[in-house]
Amino acid sequence: MKAVHIHDYGGLDVLHYEDAPRPTPGAGEVLIHVYATTINPFDCAVRAGYMGQYFNYTFPLILGTDVSGVVEEVGEGVTEVSPGDVVYTRAGIYRDGAHAEYVLAFAADVVPKPASLDHIYAAALPHVTLTAWQGLIEFADLSEGQTILVHAAAGGVGHIAVQLAKWRKAEVIGTASISLPFLEELGVDEPIDYTKRAFEDVAKDVDVVLDLLGGETQQRSWQVLKPGGILLSTVQPPSQDIALAHGVRQKMIGTSPPIRKVLTEAAHMVENGQLKPFVSAVLPLEEIQKAHEMIEGRHTRGKIVLEVVH
Ligand SMILES: NC(=O)c1ccc[n+]([C@@H]2O[C@H](COP(=O)([O-])OP(=O)(O)OC[C@H]3O[C@@H](n4cnc5c(N)ncnc54)[C@H](OP(=O)(O)O)[C@@H]3O)[C@@H](O)[C@H]2O)c1
Repeated sequence: MKAVHIHDYGGLDVLHYEDAPRPTPGAGEVLIHVYATTINPFDCAVRAGYMGQYFNYTFPLILGTDVSGVVEEVGEGVTEVSPGDVVYTRAGIYRDGAHAEYVLAFAADVVPKPASLDHIYAAALPHVTLTAWQGLIEFADLSEGQTILVHAAAGGVGHIAVQLAKWRKAEVIGTASISLPFLEELGVDEPIDYTKRAFEDVAKDVDVVLDLLGGETQQRSWQVLKPGGILLSTVQPPSQDIALAHGVRQKMIGTSPPIRKVLTEAAHMVENGQLKPFVSAVLPLEEIQKAHEMIEGRHTRGKIVLEVVH
């Protein structure tokens, strides 16, 4: 099969679109023919070598976590899905991923693709939806009448988080710069251009902060929470000492919620018109270097999708 390998950590030049052995599903596994996948900042972090300390990767390594495709083959004991099923899931993370024509996934994680989405749009959902879900639903249990501040609300995780928050009938404050009009389209109640206004001048007494940036943004976020509120981060573990000093809670998001449950719920939401992924660019898998370059530009609106079957 064709795949994008890295043989070492480094810059864009370590990405090679080349031949790779097609994997064989073991017990409880499924081989999926990948029709579409996406690029996430996580892939760039792995490529650059930042994740090697957490995961026991070996080279050559295939990156990529999002999958929409068709089940090609199932391993021993698999009853959940059959060859020919049209599915979506999150794969990779700990091992070879989806920037390839075929990827292995755990059968328990594989879910029927939302029927109304084509592969391009279905692939846009898993990684970012699992992340936003874990934060807003599992950890914060966001509810009607509460207020959430979503930093980087126009990006991959952010644009799904905004929709989950509106589904839970929360008030949403969101930050962006060039994508500010997109925040209005998403239904953000209070869009803030972070280049023109300090978010803490607008956001006060919020129940939840979703920090997708870390650093100074996280530091400045504590003060906008009401007592008992919660700061969630995807990038930098928030300090428990600072949380206690502010009388609030904190949680680091790690994208390990029950994949099947969340993606099944997400598919229902798509069919009910409550969740809609936004795709700002579609590139062939061969243009993987360009995809990494685009995501590292830090101005992605929604998702960048990689098309594998043209
Ligand atoms: N821990 C986990 O399990 C997990 C899971 C998923 C993601 N993550 C991490 O979460 C972060 C966000 O991921 P993502 O996929 O949403 O990223 P992304 O799609 O690349 O985010 C791009 C967005 O960031 C916005 N942005 C850039 N600088 C900003 C600033 N200073 N203030 C507000 N918005 C800003 C941009 O808006 P404008 O263009 O309008 O400026 C753009 O729309 C990444 O670091 C990723 O690695 C972690």
